[in-house]
Amino acid sequence: MYSGEILESMKKVEAARAKNIQLEPRRMTAEEKETLLATYHPDYKQNEFAILQVGPNKGDKVPTELAALLQANSRIHPEKIDLTKVDYDVDVLVIGGGGAGASAAIEADEAGAKVMIVTKLRIGDANTMMAEGGIQAADKPNDSPAIHYLDAMGGGHFANKPELLSKLVMEAPAAIKWLNELGVEFDKAADGTMITTHGGGTSRKRMHAAKDYSGAEIMRTLRDEVLNREIPVVDFTAAIELILDQDGKAAGAVLLNMETKEIKIARAKTVIIATGGAGRLHYQGFPTSNHYGATADGLILGYRAGAKLLYADTLQYHPTGVAYPEQIFGALVTEKVRSVGAMLINSEGEAFMHPLETRDVSAASIIRECSTNGKGVHTGSGVGVWLDTPMIEIKGGEGTIEKRIPAMMRMFAKYDIDIRKVPILVYPTLHYQNGGLQITPDGMTAVENLFVAGEAVGGIHGRNRLMGNSLLDIIVFGRSAGKNAAIKSRNVTVGKLTLSHVAKFAKEMEEAGIHSDIVSPKLLPDYTRKRNTI
Ligand code: FUM
Repeated sequence: MYSGEILESMKKVEAARAKNIQLEPRRMTAEEKETLLATYHPDYKQNEFAILQVGPNKGDKVPTELAALLQANSRIHPEKIDLTKVDYDVDVLVIGGGGAGASAAIEADEAGAKVMIVTKLRIGDANTMMAEGGIQAADKPNDSPAIHYLDAMGGGHFANKPELLSKLVMEAPAAIKWLNELGVEFDKAADGTMITTHGGGTSRKRMHAAKDYSGAEIMRTLRDEVLNREIPVVDFTAAIELILDQDGKAAGAVLLNMETKEIKIARAKTVIIATGGAGRLHYQGFPTSNHYGATADGLILGYRAGAKLLYADTLQYHPTGVAYPEQIFGALVTEKVRSVGAMLINSEGEAFMHPLETRDVSAASIIRECSTNGKGVHTGSGVGVWLDTPMIEIKGGEGTIEKRIPAMMRMFAKYDIDIRKVPILVYPTLHYQNGGLQITPDGMTAVENLFVAGEAVGGIHGRNRLMGNSLLDIIVFGRSAGKNAAIKSRNVTVGKLTLSHVAKFAKEMEEAGIHSDIVSPKLLPDYTRKRNTI
């Protein structure tokens, strides 16, 4: 439990609770938000970004950590790879075993294609499994896809690609129906209707959830469906380069067995990148809520093969990562905690913002409290503000926490913190890659026969995603990529396989004077203890 400075501050939160709970902190104006973001949001720190010197986005800025991987050396020497010896020959190759990859594989299989999933870990080892709060869909009488569109467009700073966002919201109700029919156990009222809540920036209650482990429930169901359909899953096997054919069309991937280090060749008529996000790159030194495998691999593969990135300079720092205890530093505290009634409170017991501002604004507000305003709580290993969870029980009645956010209750209980009785400390954590590879609504990149789905896509969410639109996009765009890739594959005859794009990229780097000692894709984060540290 808490002691010292933390305990002293917590007493102020308790003393102010009765007053704070009556407050409805006002929403910020657009101008206030702009100033706040420019001053405190990590996306606006110019010295944390680099300008790309080679590739389709030459001249664009991306986080320095990503630039180092995009402009790095291949893991292979193309001339040493024998492309005549094909180990796997399929219609649709899905790279990635998370929610987007599984959805894509299911629909490709449904469309009659010979499909195979390769994943560097195991199917389900992905950010989908770790998603907590829920999935948006406008399927209630007081809501509509048009209202959903406006909410997401505003939250995304009007940078969302209209054709992608429109597909997301229009197909959302069908996505929920599909999941429900597959067997996802959504929270429902006694009469069978879905229980829905607000998320940050939503004007209607459209967040469908399975308590606070919505992603695990969805991934469990998708994984079962993949296995029931007997779709081949080649696990512990990473895609380390895409293969093109002599016409520059995607035609497979070079695979690396993560255990034996054997190289295998997969030939495919169409390829789907569904490799997820980049939290494990720990941009700007932030902790992350992401899965161990989130190392931006798909962006590297696609970029080297000629696909363009969109908004790769914008990341999502989830406002409420765990700030204390240290053992779970950076782990996600779902936004649903605020949806069901908790408020953000500073070290002095003051409610300093509306609890359901959009994520970028909320994260920037917390950083401001902990920096310039000097109203953060120092934990010994970091700083944070309070999320006043006992308010949930006061507002919703005894038992609300156990019923609606049991995973949160259990996570903190392990450290002797009963969130029903005491507040918790939070600080932003690296959560989501808003940008990614550019696609058209059918899911294809500018590289023919190369599709992308899930967090590796850029443009759906503009420059800031709303809660619950990621679980939604992996389903909508995963299903669609799978179906479209399967249909496309019917008319593809794969030409001669080549890795000449890999050699070409290396030459471009050479000509630009870039000499890197890094190889990419990264595949796994490096947490080995450096020498001279304890
Ligand atoms: O806060 C959350 O539960 C996260 C949801 C999301 O990123 O969509």
